[in-house]
Amino acid sequence: MQIPETGNDARGVGGDLVVLGIETSCDETAAAVVTRSGSGTGRILSNVVRSQWEQHRAFGGVVPEIAARAHVECLDELIGTAMAEAGIGFSDLDGVAATCGPGLIGGLIVGAVTAKVIAMAHCRPFLAINHLEAHALTVGLTDGIAPPYLLLLVSGGHTQLLLVEGVGRYRRLGTTIDDALGEAFDKTAKLLGLGFPGGPAVERAASAGNPKRFDLPRPMLGREEAHFSFAGLKTAVRQRAKALEPVTDADIADLCAGFEAAVADCVVDRTARAIELAGPALSEVSRRHLVVAGGVAANTTLRSALGGLAASRGFELNVPPAGLCTDNGAMIAWAGAERLALGLADGLEAGVRPRWPLDAAAPPAIGAGVKA
Ligand code: KG4
Ligand code: ZN
Repeated sequence: MQIPETGNDARGVGGDLVVLGIETSCDETAAAVVTRSGSGTGRILSNVVRSQWEQHRAFGGVVPEIAARAHVECLDELIGTAMAEAGIGFSDLDGVAATCGPGLIGGLIVGAVTAKVIAMAHCRPFLAINHLEAHALTVGLTDGIAPPYLLLLVSGGHTQLLLVEGVGRYRRLGTTIDDALGEAFDKTAKLLGLGFPGGPAVERAASAGNPKRFDLPRPMLGREEAHFSFAGLKTAVRQRAKALEPVTDADIADLCAGFEAAVADCVVDRTARAIELAGPALSEVSRRHLVVAGGVAANTTLRSALGGLAASRGFELNVPPAGLCTDNGAMIAWAGAERLALGLADGLEAGVRPRWPLDAAAPPAIGAGVKA
């Protein structure tokens, strides 16, 4: 089998660590192979993602049982494709990584068991990866950025501001007290009849809208802690839409634009607060980075608002390419490679964890239904 040349000593692929990563925590089945050089440079040899959107669309959201079955049905094939595209065999791997939480339990079991079997059969270390850690470290793979940095993680299940101090070392500065931001996009899209997944649909509709027509609330603005809340904003959109019924396409466009503008104001304000809270930890860093990860990082309005904030505070804004912001196997493989490089690995007895906060010591945020 042809092994790609990436370095000049004897281990793995051209001396780099080579890791297979498997992601099955939600509605994307993904497998990827990445390498990590001794100096910490990452390279993606393959990255295969299969979305289940079509299977869930009729239900307006992710159905856990459908998700687990869909992972079972295609994971073997995806791993085969990822290995073939990387041009390696299982014996070339230095480790096998799988998302073990947080996420939907059925899917997590599918990915973790598959990875453990490969690891066991080929006598390779197994790496139990925290999905949030994988999002948090992706910028090391894509942009070569090393901790410490400030991370805004905005996805369908999570909305957090974290100080990334190192692999395995995270300080949570803020979280949502109700809906995750991606969830708020998805619910807003659903109530306006825009379909699933909602984020891209809301963004499309908003592009034709007037963000000033509706005066929507900006929850948590100015609060001491860098927490978020989006449930009230989504409810305000629902109330405005009800008052207008029947809503026209122009109404929907204006509501979406108003929603995006309110979201951008909230996220900028909360991130500004996190910059203040993180200040001392980043004061010694020569180039300070604000990293945005998770599916919602694809939103253009949000990115440009955060770009403005970063520039005004002397930060560089780093957003991995869209395909590596949303769920993927490369980020899992990379987190595995980072852990392996530190001599870390997990036993086959490592379990899956539907809830797995990155900063277990962080006090709970105020309010019910805290997501992390
Ligand atoms: O990180 P991700 O792929 O999966 C989770 O771990 O949740 O994020 C998916 C979320 C969904 O809620 C989706 O609606 C949202 O990211 N999203 C967007 C955009 N693209 C994806 N939200 C706003 N604007 C977008 N362009
Ligand atoms: Zn994710």
